[in-house]
Amino acid sequence: MNAFNRLALVISLASIFPLHAYAADTKGNVEVVHWWTSGGEAKAVDVLKKLVEKDGYTWQDSAVAGGGGAAAMTVLKTRAVSGNPPSAAQIKGPDIQDWAALGLLTQVDDVAKANNWEALLPKTVSETMKYEGHYVAVPVNIHRVNWLWINPEVFKKAGIEKAPTTLDELYAAGDKLKAAGFIPLAHGGQPWQDSTVFEDLVLSVMGPEGYKKVFVDQDEATLTGPQMTEVFTQLKKLKGYMDPDGTGQDWNLEAAKVINGKAGMQIMGDWAKSEWTAAGKTAGTDYECVPFPGTDGSFTYNIDSLAMFKLAKKNDTPGNNAARDDLAKVALEPEFQYVFNQNKGSIPVRNDLDMSKFDSCAQASAKDFASAGEKGQLPSMAHNMATSLAVQGAIFDVVTNFMSDKNADPSKAGKQLASAIKAAQ
Ligand code: BGC
Repeated sequence: MNAFNRLALVISLASIFPLHAYAADTKGNVEVVHWWTSGGEAKAVDVLKKLVEKDGYTWQDSAVAGGGGAAAMTVLKTRAVSGNPPSAAQIKGPDIQDWAALGLLTQVDDVAKANNWEALLPKTVSETMKYEGHYVAVPVNIHRVNWLWINPEVFKKAGIEKAPTTLDELYAAGDKLKAAGFIPLAHGGQPWQDSTVFEDLVLSVMGPEGYKKVFVDQDEATLTGPQMTEVFTQLKKLKGYMDPDGTGQDWNLEAAKVINGKAGMQIMGDWAKSEWTAAGKTAGTDYECVPFPGTDGSFTYNIDSLAMFKLAKKNDTPGNNAARDDLAKVALEPEFQYVFNQNKGSIPVRNDLDMSKFDSCAQASAKDFASAGEKGQLPSMAHNMATSLAVQGAIFDVVTNFMSDKNADPSKAGKQLASAIKAAQ
């Protein structure tokens, strides 16, 4: 069929099945903007779609590819500015407050009350979901960012006996992997991935208090002090072990290199596990997860959540509002929390579920989250939990520029970081 005939067919089919007929068939429509597009992530989000559909609503998938979500956020802003927001969108951390302050979000207090969210959620989580005391978002999981993923088979071939627990051991493992012909560290050189490694190094070098001073307080003396020079020195060293073909590469393609035995390790949050799971691999046997060297006892958290939008006039029907409320309800129900998080690599956000249904990495994560306590639970900067997106963008720029400049001077980077942050505040 040529292009003209195809177009004619589409037009004639459209006149037989007008668009509103499709809408009228369902109780309502819920459009969700998210960036869960890797193989494992797509499997996880499909669980939500199926449950919403089971309740009789239509799921409209608006996935925007791009790890870390920068591309999705750009699309969301354009949609909001043109007065055409989705029903819900993956928005995290302090950014939820910023969207709510613009008057674009709607509250789901009735759903929260009917389903007892106050009792089910840890306080750190529930506070982030609220604006002026009202729930405007629903959390779906807790990811841990400070992980190192290891292929034990590759380690064995390279003669490495145990997972590294210090930076020196990490470099020693890297040397052995290099010598045996493997890529030591699978790493995609995209700004959010560079900064994921950077925040791990800040935690490793400065400890939890230093981490808070840098990312939460954005304290100038710490940003420009000698420990920051040390962080950038380590970053430069680590860069020497990263995949030489990793420039601009997606995180999941880099994860595949560890899964397929081309690389030994990856520094990544536990969404990386979604790729291992999707590839049919078992935690503890086919792969190992250990805290990023030097960060044991701390837990950099990243809570995925769906913020609820006020609908544009043309979509503001009782059915569509009910569909959005149904999404909020389903997202915290045990049925979803179990299957979604098993696929996603994260742990459930509600505190009453049976962790024996999860693999050893998730069990370790849940245990470490609890034992890290207030001191060791740290919001991830690279994953939108610690700063405004403007400040985060400033940090990303400095870190990525540093990593791509062979001659960058670690003793100057802290000052650059402090002034970039100041300009963005
Ligand atoms: C999100 C995860 C996602 C990852 C990779 C993180 O910022 O919180 O849900 O899997 O980015 O795209």
